[in-house]
Amino acid sequence: MKNGFPHYMLKEIHEQPEALKNTILPRLAKGLPDFTDDGIPDRLFADCGRVHIIACGTAMHAGMVARALMEPLLRIPVAVSIASEFRYEQPLVDAQTLVIVISQSGETIDTLAAMRLAQSLGSPALAVVNVKGSTIARESDYVLYTHAGPEIAVASTKAYSVQLAALYMIGCRMAMVRGKLDQSGAKAFMGDLLDAVPAMEAMIQKKDQVRNLVTHLINAPDAFFIGRGLDYAFSLEGALKLKEISYIHSEAYAAGELKHGTIALISDRVPVIAIATQDKIFAKTVSNVREVRARGAFVILLAKESARVEEDIADIQIRIPDLADQFTVFPIAAVLQLIAYYASVGKNLDVDQPRNLAKSVTVE
Ligand code: M6R
Repeated sequence: MKNGFPHYMLKEIHEQPEALKNTILPRLAKGLPDFTDDGIPDRLFADCGRVHIIACGTAMHAGMVARALMEPLLRIPVAVSIASEFRYEQPLVDAQTLVIVISQSGETIDTLAAMRLAQSLGSPALAVVNVKGSTIARESDYVLYTHAGPEIAVASTKAYSVQLAALYMIGCRMAMVRGKLDQSGAKAFMGDLLDAVPAMEAMIQKKDQVRNLVTHLINAPDAFFIGRGLDYAFSLEGALKLKEISYIHSEAYAAGELKHGTIALISDRVPVIAIATQDKIFAKTVSNVREVRARGAFVILLAKESARVEEDIADIQIRIPDLADQFTVFPIAAVLQLIAYYASVGKNLDVDQPRNLAKSVTVE
């Protein structure tokens, strides 16, 4: 069942490139995203005035990345809500709001209840779901299935990356339909998305590099993940992965926000994983790296191959292949998942069944 891997999580990390291709390729027509076979009409994308994404946990983090991608691309408001908050908030959604619900299992009770509430307020609901025939898939107005295959490990890995791929394709199709991307722009976008697949694969193959660095993490009580913009959205998932399977308290912070309080927690040898893959704000994140390093942090910097920065800016640097900024999440996700995985293994914990957690959360 584990195909020779010691844990389902590692197996599922390795399955990501294939899962991504299975999710993307059937929906490509002449290099452009096409949801005809999914029964999703373009008018759904043309008619809305805004987008509201609703999900829990890792799926919500995929939504955070999608928000940071879509809003600048579409130039309409794109909000993200935690499903368990949305349900009790008297949310401002209506018939002009495209609600995108994300769920691997399709059974998460808060996500389902939030979707029902949005539908009762007139919003069309498009569900991005992995499990065929699940309740959210059945009750949504439209469904875009991800093709991750069964995910057994409690810690979500391949479900996250295929959710991202589906959301990127939705963003691209919406941008086409709304005149924000012409055909050649949309083709280039999809080309960049496809380039991210071998880039992710390359980082999975470099797993020994990550395995070696976790010795600096496993005895730490706390760890911080920092980044700006999309990098901040990626860091949210890095922190969740690490805390749920290694039990190291980890937090994600927008790097520029550190000095408004959290930097007080940075002292000697506190691990800081800094994600700096966005060219236009690279220098800003690097200056935050300098700040935490000056306070003694042990810094692991994740940056693009071509990023120019002094070698001693960080204690460890992990370089990812050069991709267009919007697409770096795929190789970065692989690195963050591997950090959590090897930290859990290094602490001799139950990687696939962490304490207190269930794969599908069907109670409030
Ligand atoms: O099945 P769902 O995607 O709705 O599950 C939502 C969360 O419970 C889930 O993403 C959870 O956060 C991950 N398994 C954590 O790795």
